[in-house]
Amino acid sequence: MIERTLAIIKPRAVARNIIGDILKMMEENNLKIVALKMIHMDRKVAAGFYYVHKDKPFFTSLIKFMTSGAVIVAVLEGKDAITRYRKLMGSTNPDKADEGTIRKKYAESLQANAVHGSDSPESAEYEISYFFNATELRPYHY
Ligand code: CMP
Repeated sequence: MIERTLAIIKPRAVARNIIGDILKMMEENNLKIVALKMIHMDRKVAAGFYYVHKDKPFFTSLIKFMTSGAVIVAVLEGKDAITRYRKLMGSTNPDKADEGTIRKKYAESLQANAVHGSDSPESAEYEISYFFNATELRPYHY
């Protein structure tokens, strides 16, 4: 099924000048970038995005990190995009990420793990509409 998923390139990866390398890995894996922008989240925006983690011990630290600098938010489209992009990202914990994944290659730590991706169709819908409006999300013409 053709799906859309939300990707974030996190602050440390943006700061390290590897935006292009990461976008290239997405494109090479047949994920179409159908929406893209750079934003700098404030605490309220980041907390709303990560509300499912609000009771986790790492929540405060995660919000501090995600607001520490600019991020790239993007919508990726393709066949089974949600699971395929999660596979391309690799495990959340970079120590457990497979060779050839974005996190294996670029993560600095569990928190600064280079990228985020939606984990289900429900979260993809929430996360895409959290950052992109209707004008930015028109059907993509190949
Ligand atoms: P992400 O895919 O953006 O989703 C939640 C983020 O919380 C995760 O990547 C990590 O960057 C961060 N995080 C920090 N500590 C943990 C942890 N112990 N387990 C899972 N995620 C964590």
